Amino acid sequence: MVQFRLPQNSRIGTGKTWPKHASDSLREFRVYRWDPEDGRKPRIDAYFVDTNDCGPMVLDGLIWIKNNVDLTLTFRRSCREGICGSCAMNINGQNTLACTRAMDTERGTVRINPLPHQPVIKDLVPDLTNFFAQLASIEPWLQTKSPTPQKEWRQSHEDREKLDGLYECILCACCSTSCPSYWWNCERFLGPAAL
Ligand code: FES
Repeated sequence: MVQFRLPQNSRIGTGKTWPKHASDSLREFRVYRWDPEDGRKPRIDAYFVDTNDCGPMVLDGLIWIKNNVDLTLTFRRSCREGICGSCAMNINGQNTLACTRAMDTERGTVRINPLPHQPVIKDLVPDLTNFFAQLASIEPWLQTKSPTPQKEWRQSHEDREKLDGLYECILCACCSTSCPSYWWNCERFLGPAAL
């Protein structure tokens, strides 16, 4: 009889509950952890963020954990203002940017996983190699049929306005990795971000 089993490293094991700091304002974070080098299964670790001592966003909570509790927690971030797309992750079941998601908008425990249906490099860091290769395949940059000019080629305001609505995507991969068609066929379907 055919048996369908998840690969061994897809099964979540028991995680660690990290010590609480002395504070009257703690917020529980449950965070996906997986390190390909330790040979263990993925796990969910519990942390208690002192909200008196950090900023209001979920990313602030993760940075607080990294600075004060667990230096090994790994995640991407850069701009901290919703511009770069690095901090995309799944927070309480929604793909979103951790730097623009306020802790106050989440009820109870903040549960954080990497973006779904992508290979994980470590903890909250997905491998987006395929995602960016698909984007490159559509050559999403300005191309000219004229000979390459020998000096600066100034863009008119009118030509610039033609780009409005075409370039604003920050390529966080939240939309593609929440698209069921992309989950099932991400080798061939380019996904909403590239399209
Ligand atoms: Fe740049 Fe969140 S850190 S979008």
